[in-house]
Amino acid sequence: MRILFTHIKGLVGAYEQAPAYLAGADMNAFSVLDDAWLAVEDGRIADFGRMADFEGIADWSGLQVVNCEGRFVLPSWVDSHTHLVYAADRASEFLDRLNGLSYQTIAQRGGGILNSAERLQSMSEDALYAAARERLERALNDGIGALEIKTGYGLTVQAELKMLRVIGRLKREAPIPIKATLLGLHAVPSGMTAAEWTAQAIEELLPQAAGSVDYIDAFCEQGYFGLEETEAWLAAGAAAGIPAKVHVNQFNAFGGVELCAKWSARSVDHLEELNEADIPALQSTLNRPEGPMFPVALPGCSHFLSIPYTPGRELIDAGLPLVLATDHNPGSAPSGSMRLAVQLAIVKMRLRPLEAIAAATLNAAAAMDVSGEVGAIAPGYRANLLLTRPMDDLIEIGYRFGEDPVERVFMNGVELPH
Ligand code: NIG
Ligand code: FE
Repeated sequence: MRILFTHIKGLVGAYEQAPAYLAGADMNAFSVLDDAWLAVEDGRIADFGRMADFEGIADWSGLQVVNCEGRFVLPSWVDSHTHLVYAADRASEFLDRLNGLSYQTIAQRGGGILNSAERLQSMSEDALYAAARERLERALNDGIGALEIKTGYGLTVQAELKMLRVIGRLKREAPIPIKATLLGLHAVPSGMTAAEWTAQAIEELLPQAAGSVDYIDAFCEQGYFGLEETEAWLAAGAAAGIPAKVHVNQFNAFGGVELCAKWSARSVDHLEELNEADIPALQSTLNRPEGPMFPVALPGCSHFLSIPYTPGRELIDAGLPLVLATDHNPGSAPSGSMRLAVQLAIVKMRLRPLEAIAAATLNAAAAMDVSGEVGAIAPGYRANLLLTRPMDDLIEIGYRFGEDPVERVFMNGVELPH
């Protein structure tokens, strides 16, 4: 199984040795090799170079040649924040919002996450798996080459473990790397206090889940879990040796980012609201031995809830390694489109195309600890690749909003329907 891509207008993210991530001004220097070729062997990147230096092919047997004239080749998208496993859509709540109710009011009336939990608790594990599997197939065909998936719609120990088993099955069967996050503190189950559920999550859920999760997560937000509960949860995760990726600052900024820095979180996700202590807290993690705490922006959520966009431009200008993800979930972002996340980030956060691409590939891979496999085009990496439609410049990705810049998708060197 060998593929040779020739006459590539620009090979994006190509490195002999890829950096783990790019921060600040370096993001706009994500590498682009003009007029390039790329060789793939056994599902992995074998070699690349400039057409001018191409020495030709000695052995043409079993070789697929893809002439890329006028087109760019990118590393596949990496979606480091999803809630891909859920029971049902919440389209009627969307209508309620159009009629004037806020996301928070809908949640207070028993809709929102509680609504999703009720549906999930009564759904069989197989049905839950089948629905998630279909979403995963769509993500693959759409060009997503690595994915993080959270629990959080269980809201009981048993239902959370059921979600985790579904994610485990997806992990084993998917052709791409998948990471599992235990979003133990997502909403307060009805009839309980935040403190009571936090205690149960720490004492009963975490010990049973610890062996099969890569990260823990909490929704640190007014009306959900405060600093005290979030800290207890992060401490319990740390004691179990599990790093954190945390929902913070979606609606209110009250110290969650600093708390996450204190507990060495791998990422802080949302950040639609920032206070003056937040950027310094993120900067303070830049030289940690375990790597920085990544700021993850979720523009699909901002678009869909009509809330502010994460100030991505400001975060990059502050020298930080911005990440973009979909937040794919039935309530605040019912879209798994990384393309849309990238297009929104270019228009709404004023990201340059290379910054947005680095945020959605290289940095995203680092934020879910799959660097070395995906996120760049380097020898030995998976051949998870996107071939664009013909375009003069990468800015056309953001310019033709709503249009799909991707023409063909390859995962592990195999072309998928797109
Ligand atoms: O990332 N903010 C918390 N959790 C999800 C949405 C949950 C839901 O509404 O179902 C999010 O936006
Ligand atoms: Fe989320």
